[in-house]
Amino acid sequence: MKNKETPQPVTAERATASFKGEIQLPGDKSISHRSFILSALAIGTSRIHGLLEGDDVLATGRAMQAMGAQTTRLPDGTWEVTGRGVSGLTSPEDALDFGNSGTGIRLTLGAMTGCPVTAKCVGDESLSRRPMGRVTEPLEQMGAVFEFHGAARGQLPLTLTSPQRALPIDYVLPVASAQVKSCILLAGLGAPGVTAVTEKKSTRDHTERMLTLFGAKISFTPEGKDSGKGLFKGQRIELTGETELSATTIHVPGDPSSAAFPLVAGLLSEGAEIRLNNVMVNPYRSGLWDCLREMGGNIEEVNMRDAAGEKVVDYIVKGSDLVGIDVPPERAPDMIDEFPILAMAAAYARGTTHLHGLAELRVKESDRLAAIAEGLKLCGVTVIEGEDDLVIEGCGGPVPGLQSNVPVTTHLDHRIAMSFLILGLNAKKPITIDDSRMIATSFPNFFELMATLGAEFIPE
Ligand code: S3P
Repeated sequence: MKNKETPQPVTAERATASFKGEIQLPGDKSISHRSFILSALAIGTSRIHGLLEGDDVLATGRAMQAMGAQTTRLPDGTWEVTGRGVSGLTSPEDALDFGNSGTGIRLTLGAMTGCPVTAKCVGDESLSRRPMGRVTEPLEQMGAVFEFHGAARGQLPLTLTSPQRALPIDYVLPVASAQVKSCILLAGLGAPGVTAVTEKKSTRDHTERMLTLFGAKISFTPEGKDSGKGLFKGQRIELTGETELSATTIHVPGDPSSAAFPLVAGLLSEGAEIRLNNVMVNPYRSGLWDCLREMGGNIEEVNMRDAAGEKVVDYIVKGSDLVGIDVPPERAPDMIDEFPILAMAAAYARGTTHLHGLAELRVKESDRLAAIAEGLKLCGVTVIEGEDDLVIEGCGGPVPGLQSNVPVTTHLDHRIAMSFLILGLNAKKPITIDDSRMIATSFPNFFELMATLGAEFIPE
């Protein structure tokens, strides 16, 4: 095993047999972060089953522990978190390190603003480039004071000094972002009166569902037109602060954003039949499934059940002939993390795929729009990168693969890394990525589960 400090390249080669088998997906990253944070703000001891033990989530857990919550991992993998109450977090002794995680830092800044806390927050190179102004600006309106230590205002490292008592605000989200929405709602837990957030396009609603589960006083008013799926375009959320949360038990459902990788591997493998068990179906995260079905993907949903206030299913996926499609911009928030892997399916499909509404991809763990385009070009695929759109000319089967010995650059981005490895499993020439370390941030057993289905990867 190499040192974690040095990049770990990995190569994917075309598989000789169709993928077969069954896997159990790891816990959802979004729900796992929220499980630690909400449990830390609740009275009593919460139990979390199926928590995703990825680097990002564990960093959030350590932050909660450093601010006074008690977090314990039991031998069977259950986590117990004894909380401090809604305004109960205390200043940590040392800087909090959020590693690669935008969700971890943005949600925790909200939770801290509702408590009388002073804390320095740092992250890795990728996180230190990402915009924090989208959360620090509303938090300043709530009384938080930020000192930015880096070259740019609105980026890590920063020190937050929370107000003695946060002020409630009425905020209209300027970007469709579940992280910003969640940040404000978490800060609102410690503010007197009603904190309101309006989103013009609804985004993943795990925070709202989990706040309800923990007993928060929260209400919703739909805004805009029904999108046709029984969902409203947007909503206004009102949260009454200074209401205590009660500890609860959470069963974290499997992560659809992780399931996306074996799912596409199965679709791209002729004769494949795989089963993906325990995958959450959230209406605001279903865009990839809509796209892949429109492209002709053979995806069957079975065994629907409930977990943590969410629906969970198993998928049966078969190798499929895919065709290119147009993806409308209004679908982007419902599949914001899935564009890298959708782009791989598009590169394999017959015909052209046009992806619209991609501006937010530029501020993810990497500039994903550029990273996808750059990587696909290295693999012999024709792409046109626009400011917020991408056109991919499908190869109608296996893509050519790396045309030189220059590997795909992953830019410290887990989803770029996994996407190109999946593409390499059915490319004419192998595909090497420059670094696989970041995969552990969201999908620590990716290699093990893919091996169960018959995929082999070659570490350098
Ligand atoms: C997340 C929200 C999304 C997503 C991220 C997880 C969350 O970010 O990309 O991986 O858990 O709230 P944005 O809210 O910035 O779109």
